[in-house]
Amino acid sequence: MRYISKLFLNSLNISKKAMMLNRVLLTLVLICSYIGALTAQKQAKTYARKPVVERYNNMVVTAHPEATKIGVKVLADGGNAVDAAVAVHFALAVCYPTAGNIGGGGFALYRNKNGTFDVLDYREIAPGNASKNMFLDSAGNIIKDLSLKGALAAGVPGSVNGMWELHKKYGSTNWNKLIQPAIDLARKGFPITTMQAREFRNHEADFSKYSHRKNYLIKSVVKDGYLDIIKLLWPGDTLRIPDLAHTLEAIRDKGRDGFYTGWVADSIVAQMNRSGGIITHQDLANYKTEWRAPLKGTYRGYTVTTMPPPSAGGIALLQILKMLEPFDLAARGFNKAITVNLMAEAEKLAYADRSKYIGDPQYISIPTDTLLDEAYLRQRFFTLQCCRANPAETIKPGTFSWPESEETTHFSITDQYGNAIAITTTINSPYGSHLFVSGCGFILNNEMDDFSTKPGALNSYNLPGSKANSIAPGKRMVSSMTPTMVEKDGKLYLVAGTPGGSTIITSVLQTIINVIDHKMDMQSAVDAPRFHHQWLPDVLYYEKGAFTKKQLYMLKALGYKTQEREPIGRMDAIMLKDNKFIGGADYRGDDNADGVNDGTKFDE
Ligand code: GLY
Repeated sequence: MRYISKLFLNSLNISKKAMMLNRVLLTLVLICSYIGALTAQKQAKTYARKPVVERYNNMVVTAHPEATKIGVKVLADGGNAVDAAVAVHFALAVCYPTAGNIGGGGFALYRNKNGTFDVLDYREIAPGNASKNMFLDSAGNIIKDLSLKGALAAGVPGSVNGMWELHKKYGSTNWNKLIQPAIDLARKGFPITTMQAREFRNHEADFSKYSHRKNYLIKSVVKDGYLDIIKLLWPGDTLRIPDLAHTLEAIRDKGRDGFYTGWVADSIVAQMNRSGGIITHQDLANYKTEWRAPLKGTYRGYTVTTMPPPSAGGIALLQILKMLEPFDLAARGFNKAITVNLMAEAEKLAYADRSKYIGDPQYISIPTDTLLDEAYLRQRFFTLQCCRANPAETIKPGTFSWPESEETTHFSITDQYGNAIAITTTINSPYGSHLFVSGCGFILNNEMDDFSTKPGALNSYNLPGSKANSIAPGKRMVSSMTPTMVEKDGKLYLVAGTPGGSTIITSVLQTIINVIDHKMDMQSAVDAPRFHHQWLPDVLYYEKGAFTKKQLYMLKALGYKTQEREPIGRMDAIMLKDNKFIGGADYRGDDNADGVNDGTKFDE
């Protein structure tokens, strides 16, 4: 406590007398907060910004109402959760092009009705001609934007192969029936939301720089059949993407080969040749998904099942939960400085480990067991200085003997048969590389930026690059995507996931803590304001309204550099309670809160 006061007061450079007084006051405030919080009655507060959506049979929660409607219809027609997921994935590629995709990749976490889990990794991979220093100039400096925009930024897409393999193993409805709704959506068009209208305008400059104008998304103006390039789209305008409908027809008729071979593959390679990219026919034809074993951990008697590498998300999530388990977070209070202090310090340690150890498991050995070992985590957490922000430079990745060798979207679906699926899919940043494939109506990802372009250099999420995540042909780049499920007594309790780059992990973490520790209902747990610390930069980011003035004062007194930022994540989750599925869709980013972006909204 003394140390905190000194740290804080020194920085103010005020007179000795005032320092004394302030020191006493600060000490009193912190002591009172600890005692107050620890003796306070546990009270679940409601943060929900909209009514709870409940259904008995099944639930679909996505980032867009059109995709949700399509998923619900598949289930109503007797399809299972995987069928609905396939239809939703392709629908999002049409109606949510900022992140929904066929030009990107993702992860699926599936739980069947008997409680058996499976994980599908359909992450993008580096093209065969990729190389470690491909984004550096001759002096070894990073070439601005090269890994983020344009043809070189794209990894070989995995989404179509992912949906194909997922359907082959677990689907029950005919493939073509699942693709058709997305084709219809692309051809007939759909009204764009306020958020989408704003985004299209914001990205217009990059679209025009990296793509040919005629390849942009196309809208119907004045009357049906008259097409214009995207320019100024207004909320409610009908967006139609006929080129994408044509591509989806190839996928409907030929399955994965409709994308990875034939005229679509020819178009991708031709686009690469025109735009200076390196993806070849061979890269496309050879793309493979991987079935993986999920990671499992426990937290306060709940079982948490989540994503293994190449996502860094699952390991970090389980590490943070285990470090926090000894503490009564509920008693400390939601977003109180003394709670945030514990959570932020655990987050910093997990992100420090991520910076050294996580990469593609096919290319490096990852010490998963050690990283998740309870003794290792406790020892790491308890060597921190208590009750203060430990400066980032004093925190390092854990050491042990080991041979060295913000866009995305998430949807959660539960079906009437007892199966559940959580999928997070991405083209990385909003609109990925901004490169449309000519004649195909879709955008390629810019996932190459998730690799370490240079050791120590920061990627677009300010995550430091590591040797473990260096570029190599055919390698998968590290991700933060964390589709996760929580069980209690062997029964499914929560399905969760979110976009948000490096903040994905801490958003999933806070949703779990909100329901388990703070006893929030589903919608509150999703809507409750979030914060995020990722070790480097040494900043505690928070959403507007996350902390009261008093808590913010205390966090600063504890030594945190704090910074308000734009909304963190966009959670789409489902909770199972009293035999009901309760949907929690996130309104974040929907300025009007008018429900047009509400992914639990469906017509029945
Ligand atoms: N592209 C964001 C992620 O995979 O974490």
